[in-house]
Amino acid sequence: MFASVAASAGYGQLITPLLEDLGVFARLGEGGEGVSKEMYQFADKGGRDVALRPEVTASVCRAFAEHRPTTPWKVWYTGPNFRYEKPQRGRFRQFDQVGVEVLGVDDAQLDVEVIALADEFFRALGLQRIRLIVNSLGEPDDRARYVNALRDHFESSSAGLSTTSRETLQRNPLRVLDSKRAEDEAAIAAAPQIGEFHSPAAAEHFEAVQGGLRALEIDFEVEPKLVRGLDYYRRTIFEFQSDALDSAQNALGGGGRYDGLVEALGGPPTPGVGFALGLDRTLIACDEEGVFSSESERPDAFVVDVTGGLHATVITGELRAAGLVADRGFDNRSMKAQMKLANRSAAPSAVIVGEDEVAAGTVIVKPMDGGEQITIRRDELVAHLRARPTTT
Ligand code: HAM
Repeated sequence: MFASVAASAGYGQLITPLLEDLGVFARLGEGGEGVSKEMYQFADKGGRDVALRPEVTASVCRAFAEHRPTTPWKVWYTGPNFRYEKPQRGRFRQFDQVGVEVLGVDDAQLDVEVIALADEFFRALGLQRIRLIVNSLGEPDDRARYVNALRDHFESSSAGLSTTSRETLQRNPLRVLDSKRAEDEAAIAAAPQIGEFHSPAAAEHFEAVQGGLRALEIDFEVEPKLVRGLDYYRRTIFEFQSDALDSAQNALGGGGRYDGLVEALGGPPTPGVGFALGLDRTLIACDEEGVFSSESERPDAFVVDVTGGLHATVITGELRAAGLVADRGFDNRSMKAQMKLANRSAAPSAVIVGEDEVAAGTVIVKPMDGGEQITIRRDELVAHLRARPTTT
């Protein structure tokens, strides 16, 4: 589904390696913080420092710097990532993401397009309890001035900060804003806000993003304390949160602009924007919201073969080729045992084949709701099952 959402907006699929040079991920966290602290890194047999990818954006920028495709370069991806985190519900050491990245376009309307794609994907899944929060970190100079102001603020109120946040403050004052600890609440509430530091150009860009979202009638909240956990962001950042998940793991996905990243990886100055959505958390949210019905797992027919099993192989093959969902029993079990399986599968019909039916070229179709069974010709089976309502 994600592939069709992305393809409809002109994005092509990109497959990047799971293993990259460690240097590709060097910009993910200042001072060995956050994602870079959680990397699976090691020296390979040739003594090269490599890492399992903790995310895909840096790999996309590395590929861009290496191959220099024409811009705008619009790509989507899917696949596993690895972070050495403390495993818990919604936080795993291997997790899957889908995402998009666009390189070479500065226009705020592209930020809107990218956010709208994620929104469309969540909508297409049927999720309702999703909130979009947006913020702008400003230009690099704005961000640097803000970080200084935050440092001053938190240092003057550091007695009121938790021990963990006092340590975070030394490494990266922005990340103190992420703290959900009660002791930090007052100092965070009184902290300066990034909006006060936006240059006119950054403020204009952020206004244009919000205008685009409003034009598309996509609901959002501006959250001045949103900073995101990766250090490459500039200007727009955003996150999709689910109210169906615990607040510590409620981010289903997020992204933003990372205009300096390609350059940092040896390419020409190139603006970039994108997002990644966590599939594991998205599936948990789908479960919590009950968006997947179990109907789709129910076969249209369950084939019961008491002649050894070869006929079930052929019949299920024919039914599946005709677009029906068919299941069967294995291990040449008794008729009774196979009927039990048919019952458990919740298929509306059992298709029974014994020696007599094989000899006559027929099958027995038994409605599982207790209706009368009938014998029909094998070549009538598909049409017969199609004509039957699939629910009992
Ligand atoms: P991220 O916020 O680190 O951003 O990850 C995006 C999403 O991946 C999270 O919101 C979450 O759903 C999922 N995720 C992250 N870590 C885990 C984990 N340990 N277990 C389960 N799910 C997890 C990025 O990765 C950026 N590359 C996004 C981006 C793309 N920014 C610009 N372009």
